Parts: sequence; structure tokens; C-alpha cells
Amino acid sequence: MGSEWHLLFFLLLTIWSKGAVITAVVFNDLPRTVEVNENVAAGVVASFTVNCTTPSSSGPSVTLQNISPTTMFFNSPNALGNGTFQVTLRPGATLNAREVNQYTFTFQAECPGETISTSQLYIQVKEVYELLCDNSFLDTAAKPLVVPEDIAPEAVIYTVTLKRQGRGSLTFGFENVLVPFTINTEGQVRVPATGFTREQAGKLFQTNIVVKDADGRNCSSFLEVQVQPVYHNTVNFTESSIAVSVYENNGPLQIITQVHAHGGGHVRYQIRSPTVYFTISSDLGVIKNTYNLDLDHNPGLHNTLLVVEAYDILHPTDRATIIVNITVQRRNQQGPMCHPAIYVAEIPETSRIGTSLATLTCVDKDNNNRTLQYHMENNQTPPYSFHMEHNVLQVNTTLDYDSAAMISRGFLYQATILVTDNGNPQQTTRIPVLMTVSRVNEYCPQCPRQSSYSISEDAVFGDFVGNVNGTDRDYPFNNIEYNILGEQNVFYVGRQSG
Ligand SMILES: *[C@@H]1O[C@H](CO)[C@@H](O)[C@H](O)[C@H]1NC(C)=O
Ligand SMILES: *[C@@H]1O[C@H](CO)[C@@H](O)[C@H](O)[C@H]1NC(C)=O
Ligand SMILES: *[C@@H]1O[C@H](CO)[C@@H](O)[C@H](O)[C@H]1NC(C)=O
Ligand SMILES: *[C@@H]1O[C@H](CO)[C@@H](O)[C@H](O)[C@H]1NC(C)=O
Ligand SMILES: *[C@@H]1O[C@H](CO)[C@@H](O)[C@H](O)[C@H]1NC(C)=O
Ligand SMILES: *[C@@H]1O[C@H](CO)[C@@H](O)[C@H](O)[C@H]1NC(C)=O
Ligand SMILES: *[C@@H]1O[C@H](CO)[C@@H](O)[C@H](O)[C@H]1NC(C)=O
Ligand SMILES: *[C@@H]1O[C@H](CO)[C@@H](O)[C@H](O)[C@H]1NC(C)=O
Repeated sequence: MGSEWHLLFFLLLTIWSKGAVITAVVFNDLPRTVEVNENVAAGVVASFTVNCTTPSSSGPSVTLQNISPTTMFFNSPNALGNGTFQVTLRPGATLNAREVNQYTFTFQAECPGETISTSQLYIQVKEVYELLCDNSFLDTAAKPLVVPEDIAPEAVIYTVTLKRQGRGSLTFGFENVLVPFTINTEGQVRVPATGFTREQAGKLFQTNIVVKDADGRNCSSFLEVQVQPVYHNTVNFTESSIAVSVYENNGPLQIITQVHAHGGGHVRYQIRSPTVYFTISSDLGVIKNTYNLDLDHNPGLHNTLLVVEAYDILHPTDRATIIVNITVQRRNQQGPMCHPAIYVAEIPETSRIGTSLATLTCVDKDNNNRTLQYHMENNQTPPYSFHMEHNVLQVNTTLDYDSAAMISRGFLYQATILVTDNGNPQQTTRIPVLMTVSRVNEYCPQCPRQSSYSISEDAVFGDFVGNVNGTDRDYPFNNIEYNILGEQNVFYVGRQSG
């Protein structure tokens, strides 16, 4: 029995609820599309009305289910009380058709005792060509923009932002042409290519940045930059690098060089590269060698790159370094060694000018890369007799045996060859040349062309007829033998006396 009552109650309930389906809340003018310009001001952008089927005292209530794509630009619908609802744009919202050109709103409406309804409102955003600079940065960020003096050259310190792009390509320029910055076509403000100068440190630079689009629209953005000075190291060397060359074996504690740095009057010096061979006076910057610099014992000393540092004792972080390039040169201690060391020879007096007599072979023990020079010393007796053709001794003049001068010298030519290296100091080796000339019978005896002698007919054997005075220039002079040619035996001639 009870179950029959239950079935009846269920049927009654079903009939009642089926009757309720026809009473639903109504969106009068949705779905609908509304067009707005992207630059629309904050406020009402669209409105719609909603009716309850059975008028009620509270009227319809409308809730915003969602906005697609999601955005915070719009407020919840604003009810006017007579069934009208307004969609409003929030202050500061910036619609941008290039980013979103349509928002889809889904609303839900409800009336007491009536079925809930949903519907859509489409807000289409239309592109508007307008150029609008975004100066919100300057309102929020610390003003002015502070950049350090030592910021990297060409660093971007500010980029112009726009709320609206205008149309076409944009140009950017400074209203104040005296600011040191540059600005490119992307609106990036850069530090000068050489960085800031000392003079610009601490200065405040102000300018409007004027932006123009292809249609000539413009907007401007204010820029204020404070260049913050940085602390400068005052210590610096007066030279950028030093190269010195010294000779080896000068003994210890010789002055090599002196470095100079300026800054504050409290500059001290020290050597940074580890070395025991050099030392520096901390107050004057005089560099000396500690030990004798001997390349034979320490060939590595040939070249030393010394890192020298100057610093301010009152401000130890103020410092500078310099490279001192020390070259130790081999000292030239020995003259060239030559073979032969003395040249003694005998040559015929008829040797022609240019005849090669001897070739010297010389080496420089200090440095066999050196070029050697060969000369005759200016003390030849007789003068100009020989000369050197590089390292070859040659006859330079007509030699002679048959002269009184040569006789007095014992037929000896004397000269000295000087062999000089190009070291420092230059070293010279002397090679004595002792050259005896040998006799050559080079001249014919000379007789008088004709001699006529008179003799008395009663001359007897042994009487003197005459003297043939022959001469010979070869030494010993006039050393002549006389003979009478032909078959006759009337006269005879003294073999030696003529
Ligand atoms: C909606 O209600 C208003 C009064 O509140 C009435 O004037 C209007 O005709 C109604 N519209 C519809 C479609 O019922
Ligand atoms: C609702 O009221 C507003 C002002 O209060 C009025 O502008 C609007 O026309 C009214 N709407 C209807 C449908 O009566
Ligand atoms: C910007 O445009 C206005 C007109 O819109 C004009 O008066 C003004 O001179 C322009 N400014 C520049 C810097 O071109
Ligand atoms: C130090 O001096 C050298 C020349 O002596 C100069 O080239 C260099 O710029 C100076 N450095 C500083 C930091 O002043
Ligand atoms: C140091 O000086 C020597 C001799 O002048 C030179 O050959 C060498 O290249 C220099 N070294 C540097 C690093 O400058
Ligand atoms: C001589 O020169 C050669 C190459 O020109 C070089 O290798 C050598 O070290 C030099 N010798 C000296 C002692 O300078
Ligand atoms: C070689 O002889 C010429 C003259 O013929 C002279 O000028 C020159 O000085 C001589 N050379 C030497 C080394 O004496
Ligand atoms: C022979 O000639 C030489 C030089 O011409 C002369 O000095 C000498 O007296 C002459 N002797 C005689 C015997 O005439």
C-alpha cells in the first residue's frame, strides 16, 4: 500500500517539474557582436538586457562565467537595476588588436524559480593607427636613470616603449641634440661608442625622445640620465713599456734602468715576476742586477720580462704594472782568431798587381755569427804595397827589389792586416805580414850605342884602349860581364871592368 502512494507522489512531481521547463530567464539581445576601437577609453563598451519570465521583485542576476582569451581588462557586468547590464573597460586597460582582436564573454543569468541561461557577447577589437609613447616606466622607475661612468661603450641603457605603434616604420630622435647618447631604429638608447668621458661623469642629461611613424604622427618620451662617477686609480706609469739592453759581466748591483709612475706622491715599486737576478728600489724605481750577469753560466738571462708594479702606499688598491724587457748582450772579449797568425813569405819582385798571396781564415770565439772586416793597417813600408780583397791578401803596387830604399830595408816589405769584429766593444786582431821579394833579372844591361877609341900605332900589348861603360838596373847594379864577340885577338876586354 505504501509503495502505491510513493508511486503516485513521484508521478505528480514529474508532471509539476515538466511544467517548470518553459519558464527560463531570457537574454534579450545576446548573443551579439560589438566592435570597439583598440584605443577606446575606459568605461562602457557594451550593454545588454535580461528578462525574467515571471517578473520578480529581485529581478535577474547576471554573472560573468569567463572571458576568452583570459584578460583583466574588463569589469564584472554592472547591473542598472531595470534588467540592463553594462560591460565596462577598466582604467589603464590597453586593448591591442594586433594581440587580441576578439574577446568572447560568457554570461550566466538567473531568475528566482527559473531555469539558468547562458549566452555570449563578442567584443571585436579594431586596430587604430595611433602613436602613443609609454611613459609609465618614468613614473614607476627611480628617476633619473643612473648609469656608472665606466659602463661599457654602446651599452643599451634605455629602450623607448610604445603603447601604440602608429603605422609603418618608426624614427627616434633626441630633442636635445647635446646629449652624448645614440638612439637606433629600435628606440634603444646607447652609451657613446667611446664610453663616457671623465668630464661627463657626474652630469645629468635630459631630453625628450621624439618618436615619429610613417604617417607623421609623433609622441615623446622624457629621458633623464645621471652619469655616476666611479673611483679612478691614480697610479700609472709614465711609459707604457720599457726595453733596455745591457752587457754581461758588469758585476752585481749595476743600474739597469729606472721606472717612473705618478699618482698621489706615495708611490712605491716592487717586482711582481719571480726573479732573483733583479731588484728594484721601492722608493725610486731603480732596477739593478743582484748578481753578475754572465751569459756563459746562465744563458737564460739573455732576455727577461720583468713585471714591475707601482702602488700607492696610502691607497694600496691604486696600482699599475709595466713590463720591463731586459736584454743582456754578450760582451765581446776576444778578437777574431786567424790562421795564419803571421804571414811570412817570399815573392818574386815581378808579381803583378792583384796577385793573391794568402787567404786568411778567421773565427770570432765570442760569437761566430759576427761578420769580420779585413783591412791593411796604415803603416805599410813601403806604403800601399798590399791590400785586402775581403780576406785575401793581394799585391797593390809594383814591387821592387832593385832600389836603394829596398836595399836599405833588406828587401823586406812589412805590413799588418787588421781583422775587426762587429761586437761591442769592437775587438781587433793584427796579423803581421813580412814579405821578402826575390831578385829577378828583369833588365838587360845597357851599353853605350857606339864607342870609338883612338890608339897610337906603337901601342904595345897591354896598353889601355878605352872603357866600355855598360850599366844594369838590376841589383847588384852594373854587375856586368864584358866579352868581345867575333874571331879576333888584337884587343881584349877586362871581363869585370869593361
Ligand atoms: C522585458 O521586460 C520589460 C519590462 O521589464 C518589457 O518591457 C519587455 O517587453 C520585456 N521583453 C520581453 C521580450 O519579454
Ligand atoms: C534602464 O535604466 C537606464 C537608466 O537607469 C535607462 O537608460 C535604460 O533605458 C533602461 N532600460 C530599460 C530597458 O528600460
Ligand atoms: C607632433 O605632432 C604635432 C601635431 O600632431 C605637431 O604640432 C608637433 O609639432 C609635432 N612634433 C614634432 C616634434 O614633430
Ligand atoms: C697610463 O699611461 C699610459 C701612457 O703612459 C696611457 O696610455 C694610459 O692610458 C694610462 N692609463 C690610465 C689608466 O690612465
Ligand atoms: C724584448 O726585447 C728584445 C730585444 O729588443 C726583443 O727581441 C723582444 O721581442 C722583446 N720582447 C717583448 C716581449 O717585447
Ligand atoms: C747564430 O745565428 C743562428 C741563426 O741565424 C742562431 O740560431 C744562433 O743562435 C746564432 N748564434 C749566436 C751565438 O748568436
Ligand atoms: C792600393 O793602391 C791604391 C793606388 O793605386 C791606393 O789608393 C790604395 O790606398 C792602396 N791600398 C792600400 C791598402 O794601401
Ligand atoms: C860610367 O858611367 C857612370 C854613370 O853613367 C859614371 O858614373 C862613371 O864615371 C863612368 N865611368 C867611366 C870610366 O867613364
